[in-house]
Amino acid sequence: MKKILLLNGPNLSLLGKRETEIYGTTTLQDIVDAVKEAAAKKGVDVVDIQSDEEGVLVKAICDAREWADGIIINPAAYTHTSVAIHDAIKGSGLKAIEVHISNVYAREGYRHESLTAGVCVGQICGLGVRGYLLALEALVG
Ligand code: DQA
Repeated sequence: MKKILLLNGPNLSLLGKRETEIYGTTTLQDIVDAVKEAAAKKGVDVVDIQSDEEGVLVKAICDAREWADGIIINPAAYTHTSVAIHDAIKGSGLKAIEVHISNVYAREGYRHESLTAGVCVGQICGLGVRGYLLALEALVG
């Protein structure tokens, strides 16, 4: 595992400001920096992309087939709606880990279904931003 795509979906650019009682005060940049720093210590390169657009996320996953060894993805709201992201992860043939900052199973019913977790090797949710570092650990380990 030498190269990892770190993907974050819609509204995650607002982390640190958005619904801080649920998502905390850590910003997306803090998360990206922490993941990159931890990865560098393991000799792993991380490319990060955040997009609010489903098609951008799908394309990033399809392109990753050519260069990445694994994916850490928080599809955010698309988790619960996106057959396209499901298909992209499956089609990429890459090991992916799904991360959610909040415990989606303790929230509204519509967040209880993930269309994407089934094509990931695992899902980490409810452990806050630490979930991203645990996903890195799991992928590289
Ligand atoms: C989230 C959970 C999703 O249900 C929600 O739409 C998000 C963030 C999380 O990280 O907890 O935007 O993926």
